[in-house]
Amino acid sequence: SKNTGSLALPVVFCFFLIIQTITFPALRCNCSTAECEKTGSQCETDGACMASTSFIDGREQHIRLCITRDNLVPPGQPFYCLSAKGLLNIHCCYTNYCNNIDLKVPSGELCQVSRGSWGPVELVAVIAGPLFLLCLLLLMGAFLYQYHQRAYSHRQRLEVEDPSCDTLYMTKDRTLQDLIYDLSTSGSGSGLPLFVQRTVARTIVLQEIIGKGRFGEVWRGRWRGGDVAVKIFSSREERSWFREAEIYQTIMLRHENILGFIAADNKDNGTWTQLWLVSDYHEHGSLFDYLNRYSVNIEGMIKLALSAASGLAHLHMEILGTQGKPGIAHRDLKSKNILVKKNCTCAIADLGLAVRHDSATDTIDIAPNQRVGTKRYMAPEVLDETINMRHFDSFKCADIYALGLVYWEITRRCNSGGIHEEYQLPYYDLVPSDPTIEEMRKLVCDQKLRPNIPNWWQSYEALRVMGKIMRECWYANGAARLTALRIKKSLSQLSIEEDLKV
Ligand SMILES: *[C@@H]1O[C@H](CO)[C@@H](O)[C@H](O)[C@H]1NC(C)=O
Repeated sequence: SKNTGSLALPVVFCFFLIIQTITFPALRCNCSTAECEKTGSQCETDGACMASTSFIDGREQHIRLCITRDNLVPPGQPFYCLSAKGLLNIHCCYTNYCNNIDLKVPSGELCQVSRGSWGPVELVAVIAGPLFLLCLLLLMGAFLYQYHQRAYSHRQRLEVEDPSCDTLYMTKDRTLQDLIYDLSTSGSGSGLPLFVQRTVARTIVLQEIIGKGRFGEVWRGRWRGGDVAVKIFSSREERSWFREAEIYQTIMLRHENILGFIAADNKDNGTWTQLWLVSDYHEHGSLFDYLNRYSVNIEGMIKLALSAASGLAHLHMEILGTQGKPGIAHRDLKSKNILVKKNCTCAIADLGLAVRHDSATDTIDIAPNQRVGTKRYMAPEVLDETINMRHFDSFKCADIYALGLVYWEITRRCNSGGIHEEYQLPYYDLVPSDPTIEEMRKLVCDQKLRPNIPNWWQSYEALRVMGKIMRECWYANGAARLTALRIKKSLSQLSIEEDLKV
């Protein structure tokens, strides 16, 4: 009885603490936004207090606010709490009124020079540092330029099929690209901090609607003289919006063959929430649109196929280390979800259904529901539900099957010896325009049919190789299929051989 007596106090204390945290999660913070004026410039939250000082468009902004627990993603390094050198200084904390502090202006060169009270040593450092960096950048730029010139010199041939193709990729608006590049290399490698994303998103002017989907609409927008694509989700689709933004902000996801993500924003205008996802804009639109409009030559075909494989290989690959990335499976790969960039390479888009692999626990980051994606592109094991959903690699194999179908769409449009076929969707001759799962299952699993690979492809080395890759993407047994990395290697090899012949 003596023991229980001495335990009583801590137990009661803990009990109260638990009750307190469950029923009154409120952490009190200083708050400087207009909504908080009524509540005496304070707010309550179950998450964190945040103070930020930013330097945007030449103006200094100080903001204090509450961040809800839901917004503290990813855990450990929430986007809301990331600072950005020279642009934004953010402090998140977890005790009452802990954001009652005065953060310094972000220490970019701009602000430091204007402060004035420098000793000679600092002055020299401040002036010589950036100059030195500039020189270094110039040198690197010159180096890279030469390297590219050499690498691409054998591809300078004008493409007959699509005269608008630039061999070197140029963006009209370097400022945004630079900003993202700087931030993603200095910070977490996943893109702009959320706070900057908001600023970007809220200064975009929408221009025209360029697409519609089950989630909402896609618009072309302008930001500081450059084009961006804005995917606007209906408020019903908040989960899709959040998921896609979350995937795009996976550390180290940025890759030249994956659609470049710029910002996510949820604007609450009182009556409804507008959910935005801002990305790079590619005027060619999707691979589906592109193949409908143009045929390609052998070089163009290899370029599209190789870049798509590179993008998928990067997506699938797990990179270990603190600056690593998890393996990601797309789960809705198709020609409508791949964009064609100005230099006629692919960028994989629409990551809303993707799943990430946590190799430490060998788990998948969301409970994957059975059959998502586009029925026409579903792998046999997805159609007949034999896919092993606990095994992450099964999802990668299903992606490869879909990639094979995309290759078939591309290769049909390849113009060799004056022959090329009209654009068609895979299985266009075997199923109606909006096939059911049952129709697809009968075809793909029971009858084991696959898109037709014409005999005449055998007479051209490039087409023959493409046909062979497709067959090896379409095996009924997912594990027997090629990997994205393997395909990438085969196609690199092919591109070297083809270039030698030219
Ligand atoms: C933060 O809140 C505390 C408590 O209400 C108040 O005393 C303090 O002045 C506030 N600080 C700022 C900078 O508003």
